[in-house]
Amino acid sequence: MRNSVAVLALAVALCPGLAQAQAGDNTVKKIEEYRQALVDGNPAELWEARGEDLWKRKRGPKQVSLEACDLGLGAGVIKGAYAVLPRYFADADRVMDLESRLVHCMMTLQGMSRADATRRPFGNGTERSDMEALVAFITAESKGVVMNVPQRHAKEREAYALGKQIFFFRGGPHDFSCATCHSEGGKRIRLQDLPNLTETKDAQRAYTSWPAYRVSQGELRSMQWRLFDCFRQQRFPALEFTSEASVALTMFLARNANGAPFAAPAIKR
Ligand code: HEC
Repeated sequence: MRNSVAVLALAVALCPGLAQAQAGDNTVKKIEEYRQALVDGNPAELWEARGEDLWKRKRGPKQVSLEACDLGLGAGVIKGAYAVLPRYFADADRVMDLESRLVHCMMTLQGMSRADATRRPFGNGTERSDMEALVAFITAESKGVVMNVPQRHAKEREAYALGKQIFFFRGGPHDFSCATCHSEGGKRIRLQDLPNLTETKDAQRAYTSWPAYRVSQGELRSMQWRLFDCFRQQRFPALEFTSEASVALTMFLARNANGAPFAAPAIKR
């Protein structure tokens, strides 16, 4: 666990300075330096530890652990599993990302209702999310593994095509699509660099750096959360957790990151 708590205090202390920093190349450099400084003691480790405990603990009406959950590489295999997700699962006859697969395992193995399994998908500062902890634990087991999301099954190809369509679909009060904010290099909103997600390098870096511990929120955030929040920025209706649309969009982004080593849980401002 190293000095996570001390690092957390440091991060909080650094935050106001960051908010006041002027936009410009200097800011980007500062944020990068600050990321580097925190990289050896990411508070995400606290979520990982809690997630490991949740994975192993007997829970739900059936009082069994998740250790027999098949994330795609065989029952209980966690190492490298995230680097090949989303993918098609024959037992559910659909494409699933990590979260929808975990919900599936909570329902089938542990006997939870869907409502219980999807309760509080994202933490809110005072109440932590079990789902985000599980995601932190499992994704950490793919650190360094090269992304290799499959397009073998017809439903995997369908999900990719649907995700691509959603990415370029314009609508809402501002007539925005994801591409409006994410298809040009060098764009920035306030202090934040906007990755060009249609360009391989940016797409790889963006996808492989989630989940991330968000210093500004004191929370670990998953890719499902990232997409939920970008739907909000786009003034679209709320993206339903583990919905077909969220999985398809994840498939599009994850597949476009193929070839890059997975590098999360990361740390972000
Ligand atoms: C109104 C502009 C806007 C729209 C539209 C938008 N985003 Fe974003 N997106 C952002 C901003 C701003 C950030 C950076 C947020 C931050 O750093 O806090 C971001 C970050 C991201 C990231 C993480 C990048 C990284 O390197 O960490 C991903 C992935 C992403 N958006 C995907 C999407 C997808 C998919 C859509 C369409 C559903 C979308 N965005 C729509 C503004 C937008």
